[in-house]
Amino acid sequence: MNEPLGIAIIGCGYVADSYRYCLPFHGDRLRLVGVFDRDPQRLDAFVACWGDTRYASLQQALDDPAVRIVVNLTCPESHADVTRAAISAGKNVYSEKPLALTMRQAAELRDAARAADVRLSSAPCNVLGESAQTAWSALRAGRIGKVRLAYAELDDGMIHRANYQSWVSRSGRVWPARGEFETGCTFEHAGYALTILGAMFGPVRRVTAFASVQVADKKVSPPLHAATPDFSVGLLEFDDGVVARLTNSVVAPYDHRMRIVGDDGHLEITELWDYASPVVLRRAAQGRISRLIERRLPWLAGRRLPLVRPPLFAGGRGRPTMDFMRGVSELADALATGRNSRLDEDFAVHITEVTEILQFPGRFASPAIVQSSFSPIAKMDWAP
Ligand SMILES: NC(=O)c1ccc[n+]([C@@H]2O[C@H](COP(=O)([O-])OP(=O)(O)OC[C@H]3O[C@@H](n4cnc5c(N)ncnc54)[C@H](O)[C@@H]3O)[C@@H](O)[C@H]2O)c1
Repeated sequence: MNEPLGIAIIGCGYVADSYRYCLPFHGDRLRLVGVFDRDPQRLDAFVACWGDTRYASLQQALDDPAVRIVVNLTCPESHADVTRAAISAGKNVYSEKPLALTMRQAAELRDAARAADVRLSSAPCNVLGESAQTAWSALRAGRIGKVRLAYAELDDGMIHRANYQSWVSRSGRVWPARGEFETGCTFEHAGYALTILGAMFGPVRRVTAFASVQVADKKVSPPLHAATPDFSVGLLEFDDGVVARLTNSVVAPYDHRMRIVGDDGHLEITELWDYASPVVLRRAAQGRISRLIERRLPWLAGRRLPLVRPPLFAGGRGRPTMDFMRGVSELADALATGRNSRLDEDFAVHITEVTEILQFPGRFASPAIVQSSFSPIAKMDWAP
């Protein structure tokens, strides 16, 4: 057994509490050496909550030889700068998504990491979760036959009308609505579906996308700097004829399902943000009775598949439903054993490129030919 790898958390905001909560599940692989945030009050609150060691500056964290992986949990506008600085200091980096705000910037970071001989990896890591691995395992076993279509929704409801001021993380950070609206729901969320689709079907080859601002005034004071699309829909073409339709919004009612349709039935992950989400297998209805059941009594038409292993922890009630540290742990194991991380830099660049096309289709030809690619992702060791 290798020694746990030293990590530093940069950015101690809302999501950092979720990462910190999940750290103990990876004690054999990860050791938190210190944390830093450029906002001193935020840093104080985080350290007071978790009792971690603080750095006085980003540079101090980057100069610490005990740090092997910088976990970049800053806001999206800071991701590239912090990641670039960490790479220059010879650190491996795990970045929150998006890796960068453009494909070009993401590719520059990838090239810089390669030149510096360090690893670069990015969230989200829900493809390493029990639900995603269960659905993927069922596909590999041919449970739904040849795959034709996938539908994935990342609709979050009318967030601007929700009482998000009361969404407070464990160390007291109020959910950063302004940043979320300005970054845009597609850059914030598309990766939760794209990573799973990429693992199952390989690189996206072409994208036909539409994005729009449906609610320009989100009642934020002072008003938002940018009217970023709050709705997007894209058709993703994979090899072998598989087509996926991915929808992102902070307008339509909450729906985080992914459905994968094959000749013999379809699989549904009911909640992409929950590693313990049910995975349901439904057979294609053929006869009159089964068509009737499908329409009138849909809950009878499906069979819940057992998860390929029990989830590491039960989320909910103030606990995250996703193991945020699993991607960092994956990178640590890859470093320790000399293999590629499942979420390596090629994968992260590809996800960033497809996301940029989805959020800003006007920047690209339509359909857009995706330039980046990645090698097949290996299933988790514990998934059949
Ligand atoms: N909020 C969520 O529910 C959520 C969930 C999953 C992923 N994420 C992702 O996590 C990342 C962070 O989001 P958040 O919600 O925690 O935002 P946040 O604004 O609460 O936290 C970001 C923190 O980074 C700090 N920061 C920014 N630039 C910095 C720099 N250059 N050096 C040091 N510190 C810096 C800020 O001071 C802030 O405290 C984003 O990429 C977001 O997409 C957020």
